[in-house]
Amino acid sequence: MSKKEILKALHEKKGEYVSDEELASEGGISLEQVPQEIQWLKDDDYIIEHSSELGYRLIKVSNRLLPYEIQRDLHASYMGVEIHYFKEVDSTNEVAKKLALEGAPEGTIVIAESQSSGKGRLGKKWISPSGGVWMTIILRPDIPPRQAPQLTLVTGVAVAETLSKECGLDVGIKWPNDILIGNKKVSGILTEAITNQELDFVVVGIGIDLNVDLDSFPPELREGATSLKRELDRDIPGVKLVQNFLADFENLYNEFKAGNFPEILAEWRRLSKTIGRQVEVRKRGRVVTGEAVGVNKDGMLILETEDGLRKVISGECIHLNKKH
Ligand code: BTN
Repeated sequence: MSKKEILKALHEKKGEYVSDEELASEGGISLEQVPQEIQWLKDDDYIIEHSSELGYRLIKVSNRLLPYEIQRDLHASYMGVEIHYFKEVDSTNEVAKKLALEGAPEGTIVIAESQSSGKGRLGKKWISPSGGVWMTIILRPDIPPRQAPQLTLVTGVAVAETLSKECGLDVGIKWPNDILIGNKKVSGILTEAITNQELDFVVVGIGIDLNVDLDSFPPELREGATSLKRELDRDIPGVKLVQNFLADFENLYNEFKAGNFPEILAEWRRLSKTIGRQVEVRKRGRVVTGEAVGVNKDGMLILETEDGLRKVISGECIHLNKKH
């Protein structure tokens, strides 16, 4: 806790020296403990300068997605109030499921700089090197299990809106939940619902290729993927992006809980890069081809095929031609 208080004191006087005495008093620790606390902050990649006469001053804030930094300027009332941070973890969705089973409250976030076993949809591996945003949110909505997939669409809208505000580029959604810039994937969402007759909880995992170096991707994935850094040719501050996303997501999720899913779905349709296109949906060796003419309220894709209208619940969607 003292680390947080010391950081607060340094932040408040950013660029100016704060004396050892003031830091000890703010942190509720002895003078002798100050250097150790400062060292822990340096270990978190804060750059702090020391003067034996004047004390310590913060030169540069850490680039990591640290809870303290995310919460410092977060305009959300319950999303991100509890944040579990990892430098590396197997999968934030797996950690979130364990925490949810132990009773973690709605809005709890698990976030990692990198994942060793990141999970994608349809049993695929999700490459998660440092530079990306890999996070999972625990939700406890009072809805029947069949409505849980709607949360993927709600999240897709929040991610697309956040990225669009950040980069001003052509951001859109490929059904069911890939966020694209142009026709390249920049983000994916993996929703897992845990049910026991009723819906116990939902974990929504979000992966964003923010400052990811695409050379770290296997060649077969490089072609269809992009990162914000690649698109904008600069590093994007991850903390600000996460804060913006959490605030936007909390608003949309509140709307969802208030029964306003139809309005969110209308926004999803507006952001969709799939509707109006000729697509192929593959699932377990079966392929359905047709024009995507809409999504229904359960998030199913409606295709106009040679044999008439078909609804598809899940699968890998491939865009075959340009949207007209
Ligand atoms: C997809 O498009 O296939 C979904 C990708 C979801 C990736 C995120 S990264 C954070 C969270 N933890 C995981 O293991 N997966 C999700």
